[in-house]
Amino acid sequence: MRSKDIVWTSAIVAAAIILTAVLSTASLRAAAGGGALEAAAKSSQQIARGKYLVDIMGCHDCHTPMKLGPNGPEWDMTRALSGHPEDAPMLPPANLPPGYMAAIGGTFTSFAGPWGTSYTRNLTPDKETGLGDWTVEEFIATMKTGRERGKGRPVLPPMPVQNLRALSDTDIRALFAYLQSLPPIKNRTPQPTEPAGQ
Ligand code: HEC
Repeated sequence: MRSKDIVWTSAIVAAAIILTAVLSTASLRAAAGGGALEAAAKSSQQIARGKYLVDIMGCHDCHTPMKLGPNGPEWDMTRALSGHPEDAPMLPPANLPPGYMAAIGGTFTSFAGPWGTSYTRNLTPDKETGLGDWTVEEFIATMKTGRERGKGRPVLPPMPVQNLRALSDTDIRALFAYLQSLPPIKNRTPQPTEPAGQ
């Protein structure tokens, strides 16, 4: 080979190497981007499923405070899923006339009955007063065992623990993903109190 040919051949080989490198980096980038897009799509589907479950399973019924509107009681969506308002009155122990099982407080977030008085919890992701510092495992354990944070005292009525036990892990994860995607609301809900006569 003449030296001119050698120079040309090396130049072509070098160009080919550079081109291969550029192309494979580009395809790696596309693959990585595709993976991230896929993960984002999956998580937005999970959040949508969680919202659907929260809506049909009635979590708002007890965990979103009610106010009186022109057509009767309605949810105060500025405080969606933030539990019993910390500035709302506490209920006295139930001392009910015969025929009654329980009494419900003014915002439909506190319940006095034979179990004492319970106050619905803040389900928004506020770190101090909501579920912001919960892990998904703790949330799953709570739903499966009906115990506070999955290991404490039994969660009190009327939280529908019997129904929630039937949820699949996939659906509980979706519920948690949706709740964690909400705007955090700072609201420290009260601890339950003992029943009347205790
Ligand atoms: C009929 C009323 C009612 C409904 C419906 C309801 N809850 Fe509750 N929930 C409560 C009450 C009351 C408490 C507080 C009980 C206590 O202090 O032991 C509570 C507590 C909780 C807690 C805290 C448990 C803990 O370990 O501290 C979580 C989490 C929760 N609810 C999630 C949900 C979700 C998610 C839904 C919808 C799928 C839902 N709740 C529907 C009444 C309700």
